[in-house]
Amino acid sequence: MRILITGGAGFIGSNYVQYVLNQHPTDEVVVLDKLTYAGNLENLSPVERNPRYHFVQGDVCDATLVDRLVKRMDAVVHFAAESHVDRSIQDPSSFVRTNVLGTQVLLDACRKAGGIRLHHISTDEVYGSLGTDGAFTELTSYDPRSPYSASKAGSDFLVRAAWHTHGLPVTISNCSNNYGPYQFPEKFIPLFVTNLLKNKKVPLYGDGMNIRDWIYVEDHCKGVDLVLRKGKLGETYCFGGRSERTNAELTRLILFEMGFGKEMVEMVKDRPGHDRRYAIDPTKAETELGWKPETPFLYGLRKTIDWYRQNEDWWRNIKSGEYLASDEQRYEAGESFVVSGKSSVARGSL
Ligand code: NAD
Ligand code: DAU
Repeated sequence: MRILITGGAGFIGSNYVQYVLNQHPTDEVVVLDKLTYAGNLENLSPVERNPRYHFVQGDVCDATLVDRLVKRMDAVVHFAAESHVDRSIQDPSSFVRTNVLGTQVLLDACRKAGGIRLHHISTDEVYGSLGTDGAFTELTSYDPRSPYSASKAGSDFLVRAAWHTHGLPVTISNCSNNYGPYQFPEKFIPLFVTNLLKNKKVPLYGDGMNIRDWIYVEDHCKGVDLVLRKGKLGETYCFGGRSERTNAELTRLILFEMGFGKEMVEMVKDRPGHDRRYAIDPTKAETELGWKPETPFLYGLRKTIDWYRQNEDWWRNIKSGEYLASDEQRYEAGESFVVSGKSSVARGSL
């Protein structure tokens, strides 16, 4: 199979490229990536000499380029997106452009090429925020609450419309919070780990009691691959780690694993509109695809911390700011969501 993988130079996409080339010895992979601040060719260095891997730098919104690529493919796996909630609060339009328009450009190309198979990567955030009980399933109503999740919800609806209206062979997966190697150090786990490796404090938002359901990236990649090859067309599959933790609990665990105490935590102003709890019930993927989250959380976390220890050049380059375009520097990866540059003390403590 020849697969176009959009966003393949990002965190999950690059893990998926490696997974496909390792697991499917006759598959060919073409990566289409714009190389935004989050895309990094170093993430693909393990496969750069593989003759079954090709890279094209380009934008998923560029219909001419996308049409040309898609018509030579057997399938498209669509990861490319603006993916960070905090950035979406500051600049929603870029999320609408890439996540909504970019997805439609791909769907149009698949249709024009005669009905190319497309798998769309989405998020559990489209379902909104949970109370203390229950978990999201494929049947949960959409209730996105940040510009990021609203743009992902929009893209999901366009994919569903392409199935219902045009009969395009599509599937969607909605996954919970991923962690693992190559994750950009603006997201919680790599930000906290790399800050501590620099002896710098970690910024915990609000009261630290928000809950996320963590999944090791390779488990997500396995799920995506199963849906691509065995999933039922027109269907949605939810993936999660069955591993819920409050942010405060996760912070304590990271501090302990890395030999630091709670004096390294800075309680900072909360993220506006911060969703309280996400959790996925992945029963459908488990029963229909034989998938399960295989990596125990503590094992995956230790592997991830080790990866950041062993790959200091990778993240130091990013955190030094050299990697970022000048207009990105206000985020200075690793600095948390503190728009004013000042962090106010929040409720609660660690
Ligand atoms: P990421 O930000 O690490 O990578 C995104 C990649 O897309 C980058 O390589 C970037 O250069 C590329 N890109 C951005 N805009 C583009 C454009 N216009 N054209 C071409 N390429 C473009 O993101 P990630 O965390 O790897 O997430 C990948 C996908 O998985 C996203 O669709 C995201 O919504 C979804 N997702 C992520 C998580 C998570 O926990 N990280 C969980 C569920 C779903
Ligand atoms: O649930 C899936 C989603 O997970 C993906 O769709 C998104 O692309 C991905 O970014 C992630 O979104 P979150 O907002 O949950 O991830 P983030 O790592 O930004 O934050 C995780 C939790 O940690 C969240 O409750 C906010 C909190 N947080 C985050 C940062 C960056 C902090 O307390 N301090 C921080 O500095």
